Amino acid sequence: MVPSSRRAGERAAPAGWVSTVFSILWPFFLSDFSSVPDPMTLQTIILAAGQGTRMRSALPKVLHRVGSLSLLEHVYRLADGFAGNDINIVYGHGGPRLRNELAQLRTSWTEQAEQLGTGHAVMQVADWIGDDATVLILYGDVPLLTSTTVQQLLALVGDHSMGLLTVELANPTGYGRILRDGEGRAVAIVEEKDADAGQRAIREVNTGIMALKGGRLKGWLGRLHNRNAQREYYLTDVIAMAVADGVRVETCRPAEIAEVLGVNTRAQLAELERVYQLRLAHSLMEQGVTLKDPARFDLRGQVIDCGHDVEIDVNVVMEGTIRLGNDIRIGPNVYLKDCEIGDGTEILANSHIEESIIGADARVGPYARIRPQTKLADQVHIGNFVELKKTTVGKGSKINHLTYVGDAQVGSGVNVGAGTITCNYDGVYKHPTEIGDGAFIGSNTQLVAPVKVGKNATIGAGSVITKDAPDDALTLSRPQQVTVAGWQRPTKKPR
Ligand code: UD1
Ligand code: CA
Repeated sequence: MVPSSRRAGERAAPAGWVSTVFSILWPFFLSDFSSVPDPMTLQTIILAAGQGTRMRSALPKVLHRVGSLSLLEHVYRLADGFAGNDINIVYGHGGPRLRNELAQLRTSWTEQAEQLGTGHAVMQVADWIGDDATVLILYGDVPLLTSTTVQQLLALVGDHSMGLLTVELANPTGYGRILRDGEGRAVAIVEEKDADAGQRAIREVNTGIMALKGGRLKGWLGRLHNRNAQREYYLTDVIAMAVADGVRVETCRPAEIAEVLGVNTRAQLAELERVYQLRLAHSLMEQGVTLKDPARFDLRGQVIDCGHDVEIDVNVVMEGTIRLGNDIRIGPNVYLKDCEIGDGTEILANSHIEESIIGADARVGPYARIRPQTKLADQVHIGNFVELKKTTVGKGSKINHLTYVGDAQVGSGVNVGAGTITCNYDGVYKHPTEIGDGAFIGSNTQLVAPVKVGKNATIGAGSVITKDAPDDALTLSRPQQVTVAGWQRPTKKPR
């Protein structure tokens, strides 16, 4: 497909280098596609002007999220997946916020100031539609449609045919019904509010998603009216017009109903979230991941570079970009965000890891908290109630219990005892702590940063270390222990 040279509407310019790279590469894209015979121009209109009153939200409806992406971004990405697709989003409510939050999308934006119906929405972009283009109409609040289904729909479009996506519902209430003639050809859509009892009994409904030739569509748009129960300009009226003009209305069905379900309420949003999560879970399982329960796994982002034999227990939540090696075990209730985990590593229950890199054959948790910019080398053990922040830990080091280490560089083969604290903050500045290879930090030690503990140094338990501790020596700061022999505890005196 070759992108249309027509670019009407307001187009968000891609940011700085993106646009530069894009304009340099653009001729190559063109030359690539020029070898395709009879290229089809694809234009996609995403309808997103509806108010979404039933969400009861200050956020425009299409900005609510499924997984890590807003409803509208899901639809945009689907459209953008078709090479050379020229996209135009029709928006209404919450326009400035919408355009601000989605400024990175390569799309035209067209305002529909008043929402007078789906036909009226498409009329707003009539000048932008190319006569020879194949026009795909999508809804901004229908996030789970797949490219396979869209491909099937597009294949139905010709000079004398158009494609309409329909679905059969057990309860069709609220939807436009598909009317078919004696030969089973789709001939019209009647909206619920305009339908008679017989028509309402029809269970095949309009999904709203259709594809057709631009020139034809423009002609029919000019003939839409609002003489109906809702006083709206119905896009659905183009079906009867097509039939009258000798254009066949070919229909197809999605692989699953969820693909065409829209979001009007928070309950529907939650429903689609579950469907989406199950899809992600199944795709991970296909890549060789064991999920103890695919219904109790959430991914709000993506797992890239997933190795083999990864086992994930229940209620794990992953966000952002996750990289997983081979033979990893992740325990129940673990939260991972933007992190990388090496081969053979085990993350035990209730651990929380963010923006960090965990090496191979390491063990983290249970109940560990790894905060951003932490890097654990191979074979590191981090135990319960340990918090690490902006810290590197060298190979084979162990920090097993009840400890805070922040802004620190910990060497290899180090053992940090329970209750150790790097006092890294003086109330204004953060200061670094350095712990050399092979050091042993006794329990309940405070390392008052900036401070260095030398290689193979030993720090006596209970020390407050304010000055650098040299290599290979025992350093401790601790009041002398005294024993008072024969000491008597006070006793109650008789009255
Ligand atoms: C529409 C169809 C109906 C179909 C149903 C599927 C029409 C007349 N009816 O119903 O046959 O079964 O979708 O869900 O087309 N929108 C705008 N501007 C408007 C009105 C709507 O952009 O003026 C957008 C909405 O944001 C939404 C989509 O169009 O994304 C559908 O609008 P909605 O009101 O949900 O659908 P209906 O018109 O009730
Ligand atoms: Ca409506």
